[in-house]
Formats: sequence, structure tokens, C-alpha cells
Amino acid sequence: MSQLPFVTTTEMFRKAYEGGYAIGAFNANNMEIIQGITDAAKECRAPVIIQVSPSAMRYANATYLVKMIEAAEKETGLPICLHLDHGDSFEVCKEVIGYGFTSVMIDASSKPFEENVEVTRKVVEYAHDHGVVVEAELGALAGVEDEVVVSEEHSHYTDPNEVEEFVHRTGIDSLAIAIGTSHGAYKFKPGTKPQLRFDILEEVSKRLPGFPIVLHGASSVDPHYVQMVNENGGSMPDAIGIPEDQLRKAASMAVCKINIDSDMRLALTGSLRKYLNENPSVFDPRKYMSVARDNIKDVVKHKMIDVLGCTDKI
Ligand code: G3H
Ligand code: 13P
Ligand code: ZN
Repeated sequence: MSQLPFVTTTEMFRKAYEGGYAIGAFNANNMEIIQGITDAAKECRAPVIIQVSPSAMRYANATYLVKMIEAAEKETGLPICLHLDHGDSFEVCKEVIGYGFTSVMIDASSKPFEENVEVTRKVVEYAHDHGVVVEAELGALAGVEDEVVVSEEHSHYTDPNEVEEFVHRTGIDSLAIAIGTSHGAYKFKPGTKPQLRFDILEEVSKRLPGFPIVLHGASSVDPHYVQMVNENGGSMPDAIGIPEDQLRKAASMAVCKINIDSDMRLALTGSLRKYLNENPSVFDPRKYMSVARDNIKDVVKHKMIDVLGCTDKI
């Protein structure tokens, strides 16, 4: 059992499902992002999932991230779940359980169904023995995840005919599905109408009553920050995200976890570009990083209040 103070998602998801809201799962790469997320959650009195990807661990070193998230938990007293995002092997899931993660994603969604079942079931057996919960995925989102690019032609929606067998044979605790979200800042082509496939979500939840569903690739890519990037030396033309009213609708249905990374990256990048552009002589990182941290906090608060509906739940 974990010695660290993190909670699993079991209670969070049970209440979120019943209450028609979703828990935010925010990706952490450094201290300012962690503080932006947890300061927002504290002000919103919101339970929160902080997730770390394998490439974030390569960047920052897992021990640094775990210790900083542990410090955030002590500082805020929040129920925090520490989750592995897009774990790609049994070994990485086992490794992070050793660090005290309370939730792992095994993402074998690019593998054939039987292989996905096999590795997922192996992770579930190990994780459950250690008091840790498991998320897995069926279907394939377009976009960039953990340095792997999935092209639109290789993406495909989740097939509702597969979900019962997958959940029953693996014993997972939550299921990520593909209904039209995608990773990164370029989710839809300009001129197309972004539309999530609520019919698939409904069909999945009919077949898995009461079971928590997860949405990846759910950033809304705020035009305000895209503009800030582009007006300050950046170039992100045609960055388009998921309309927030559609995410709110998903949160009121069976979706209990919504993953947000790109929106925080965009706030951080836009803030830095603007600040440094307007203050060319500043070279104290505390000055520009605190602006970025404040803006990340604002983004996360906005998600909690207007998209996830998870405020005042603790
Ligand atoms: O889905 C992927 C997340 O946005 C994490 O991205 O692997 O670049 O840390 P990353
Ligand atoms: P976005 O790129 O839409 O923020 O998605 C993040 C995600 O799904 C992390 O797993
Ligand atoms: Zn993802």
C-alpha cells in the first residue's frame, strides 16, 4: 500500500457520477504548473487529479514531481489523486506504483483488442494488489500524445460493442473512450464544426451502467491565449479546441474524468511570450513564471467552475 498521502479516484468518481459533474485531470511538468492547479482547486474546494506522463517523468525526474505534488497536498490539504497518464507498459505502471501513484493508465489502445486485454489485465492485477486503480482505453484519438503522433486517418471512435467485454475481462476502474476529442492544440480544421459523438457516449454508458468514463484530449484551446501567442512572436495558426458547452454536457453524463494539458501549456506559453515581449530587460524567472502560474490558476479555476462543475465538492 502507498505510504504517500494521495487518494484513489474511487470515491471521487462515485460522487461525480451521481452528481453529474467531472473531476479535472491536469498534467504536471514543473512546480509552477502544480501550484497553479492546486491553488485553483483549493479556492474552488474541488477534488483534483494531477497526472504525470512518461515524458514528463523523463523531463523532470519522477521523484521531483512526486515530492512537489506531495508538498502541494500538505500545503492545501486537498484530496489529490496522483495518476500516471498514458503508461505504455506494465513496467512503467509498476515503477510509478513504487513512487506512490494511486492511479495508473495503461494505454494499449493502439494494440489489437486481445493484446490490449492481456496487458491491461496484468496491470490491474498488480495495481489492485497495491491499492491502486487503473484506467485503460478503447479507440484511438488523433493528435500528439507522449511524443507519438496519431494521424487523423489512424484515429477511430470507440466501438460500443467492445466495451462490456473489455471492462469485464480486464477489471479496470475507468475507461477512456474516443468520441471526437483529440490531443494537442489542433483538434479541428478551420471551417469544420467541432462535434463530439454523444450517441457513442450514450451507448457506452447504457452498456456500462454507473461506470466512470474518461475523456482525453479535452482542451478547449482558448482563442484569447492563441492570440496572445500569435501577437507576441509565436505562430499557432488554426489552433482549435473542443467547445466547452459540449464538455459540460459530457461531464453531466457518464464522463467522470476530463484531461486537460494543452490549455495550461497555452496559458504558460502565451503569458511568457507577452511578458518578455513587454518587459525586454527582465531576466528574473520569478517575475515571468509567477505571471504564468497566475494564468494557469485562472485557466484551471475556469475549468472547475464552468466546464467540470466540480466546485464545492470537498
Ligand atoms: O496526452 C498527452 C499529454 O498531453 C501529455 O503530453 O507526453 O508531452 O507530457 P506529454
Ligand atoms: P489536451 O491536449 O486536449 O489537453 O489533452 C490532454 C490529455 O488528454 C492528457 O492525457
Ligand atoms: Zn491523453
